[in-house]
Order: sequence, then structure tokens, then C-alpha cells
Amino acid sequence: MATKSKKKAKIEIENNEDPQDKPVGVMPTEEEGPEVKIEDLPGVGPATAEKLREAGFDDLLALAVMSPGDLADQAELGEAVATKIIGAAKKMANIGGFVSGDALLERRREVLKLSSKVQSIDDLLGGGFETQALVEVYGAFGSGKTQIGHQLAVNCTLPMSEGGFDGDVFYIDTEDTFRPERITQMARGHGLDPDAVLSRIHVARAYNSAHQMLLVDEIKRMSKGLNVKMIIVDSLTSHFRAEYIGRGMLANRQQKLNRHLKDLKQLADVNNALVLVTNQVHSKPDAMWGDPTKPIGGHVLAHASTFRLYLRKAKAGRRIARLVDSPNLPDGECVYQVTQDGLRD
Ligand code: GTP
Ligand code: MG
Repeated sequence: MATKSKKKAKIEIENNEDPQDKPVGVMPTEEEGPEVKIEDLPGVGPATAEKLREAGFDDLLALAVMSPGDLADQAELGEAVATKIIGAAKKMANIGGFVSGDALLERRREVLKLSSKVQSIDDLLGGGFETQALVEVYGAFGSGKTQIGHQLAVNCTLPMSEGGFDGDVFYIDTEDTFRPERITQMARGHGLDPDAVLSRIHVARAYNSAHQMLLVDEIKRMSKGLNVKMIIVDSLTSHFRAEYIGRGMLANRQQKLNRHLKDLKQLADVNNALVLVTNQVHSKPDAMWGDPTKPIGGHVLAHASTFRLYLRKAKAGRRIARLVDSPNLPDGECVYQVTQDGLRD
């Protein structure tokens, strides 16, 4: 026994793989070791693997973070089978417990930052919009939320050397305000080919909140072969707000919203991507409850957002963005402009 393991260790060293080099507790990345496929999970035969892939689950991490009921629904499996698959995926993906601070730091090192190409905004955000994060942009009507969504969609397609992600964008449009013409203007503003940019922005109109939630699953299905780096939901809350009216519906609405946000955050983590959602503020300043400068969505959204940006209009066509409640950056404000070519200092 002892000689055997010694021999193995020797072979590894001869292969220049110092076992001491491996950080402990880090989530396995694609570069590390042979890739474990979903077929390698106990109990997953070719037919089940096919069902899982069709439902958009093609790696262990995506499975490990699911709840049995949801996986059973989405992949059309029995709940007992789903429970077993999730358990096995958790073990094999090694994400079941605590990780050390240095392992977390390692994961943080994978975080990329998308440049807004507006110096003052990038400075406010410590270099740009982070991946593995959910960014909420909120403000009154016409404050420029949709403009930020369009601009970042364009910037996401820029090469890494220019502050972009060379990535594909999924845009869930709930208010019918996505405008390809505006993308064209902004692409030209960066000297990019508008058609090339538009071909990397995948847009779906969501007709109600249930459809909006289903579109997240559709993103999982469609993302194969794409470099998904950004998901935009503009607006996150409008359908929920319109459909769940009154105090009696509030708990139900918040539960659904929470579920939706978790699904979005999962996409951000699995793809090392950025999720950007827009949100309105309470619109009736004279109402008994509801501060007119407070975003809607309550604690659920406040808790889910990694960064919150509050937009408002200022004099002479200028805009102000305020960073609120960041985990690692000071609160602050910056000024920028919306021009025909896009956002500018
Ligand atoms: P709601 O969705 O209604 O809540 O508003 P929003 O916050 O999404 O506002 P949006 O991003 O749509 O901002 C609209 C504003 O952007 C307009 O009032 C204009 O001031 C500005 N804007 C939009 N397109 C252009 C453009 O081509 N040129 C310039 N200069 N400004 C533009
Ligand atoms: Mg808008």
C-alpha cells in the first residue's frame, strides 16, 4: 500500500505536477484535471443525460445549485431521481461546504470588469461593472436606465483589450424599449461594425412575469457555443409590479422575484458573467408609504443586488449616478452625459 502511493507520488513529480501547488478547496475549473461529464454521475444514463442537456444542464455546477423540485420540473424527471443527481453533482463538483478565504480570493481573481467607457462611472465602480455580480440600476422615468443597458450591451462585445468581454449578451426586454437603432448609433460611437455588434445581442420580449422567468431557462439552453458574458433584464420589476397588486399579493410577488433573482445570479456565477437589472423608484411622492427615491422590490432585491446605482437627471442634460450599498467600495456619485453616440464623460 505504502509503496504504491509513494510510486504514484513519484510519477506525479516526474510529470512536473507538484501536488503541493494545488490550492485547497477551490472550485475545480476547466483547466484542472480531466473534466467530469454529466454522464459520469451515478444513475445518469444516456437518456437522462440527453434530457438534462435539452433542459440546459450540461455541467455539474449548474446541476449542483438546483433544488430537486425545479430540476424535476425543468428536465422532466422524477423528483427522487433529481434529488440523487443533485446530491452526486454536489459531491463531484466539490461545492458542498465552506471554502477558505484564500480560495475565495482565487475565485475573486477570475472577476472581470466591463468598462462603461465613461471614466467617472468606471472610477465610481472601482474599474467597471464586475462579473459574478448582479447590478441594479434604478431611477425615475427617463433617468437613463435603458440607455445604460444599451451602452453596456455594446461595450460587452468590445475586445478585452478595450475594456470589453468579447462576449455575447442576452437582453430580456419587458417594456418593449430595446431599440436596435440605438445599438447601431452606440456601436458607431465606438467605431464598431453595428451589424457585428447586433449579431451578438440576443433579445427577447417578455410578455408577463412568468414568461420573463422562463426566458432565464431559455438563456441556459441557448448559451451553448456562445461566450455569455452579460444578461440584462430591463425592467426587472415592471411585470411583477403590474401583476401582483395590493398588500395581499406582496408575499407571493416577493417569493417569485426572489426565485427569479436566484436564477439570474446562478447564470452570473456559472458563466462568470455580469447581470444588469433595471428598476423603478416609487412613483407617488404623495403616497402614505413608499419613499419616492426608494427602489421598488423591497428587501428581496436589496439583498440580491451586489451593486446598486441610483440615476437621476441634472441640469443641462447631465446625469448623476450614485453608488449605493456596495460591499467593497465607498458610496459616491459621478456625472456623465447621454449623447447620440452613447454615454460620455
Ligand atoms: P423608463 O424606462 O421610462 O423608466 O426610463 P429610463 O430610465 O429607462 O430612461 P431611458 O434610458 O429610456 O432614457 C431616456 C432619455 O435618454 C431620453 O429622455 C433622452 O434624454 C436620452 N436619450 C435617449 N436617446 C438619446 C439620443 O439618441 N441622444 C441623446 N442625446 N439622448 C438620448
Ligand atoms: Mg427604460
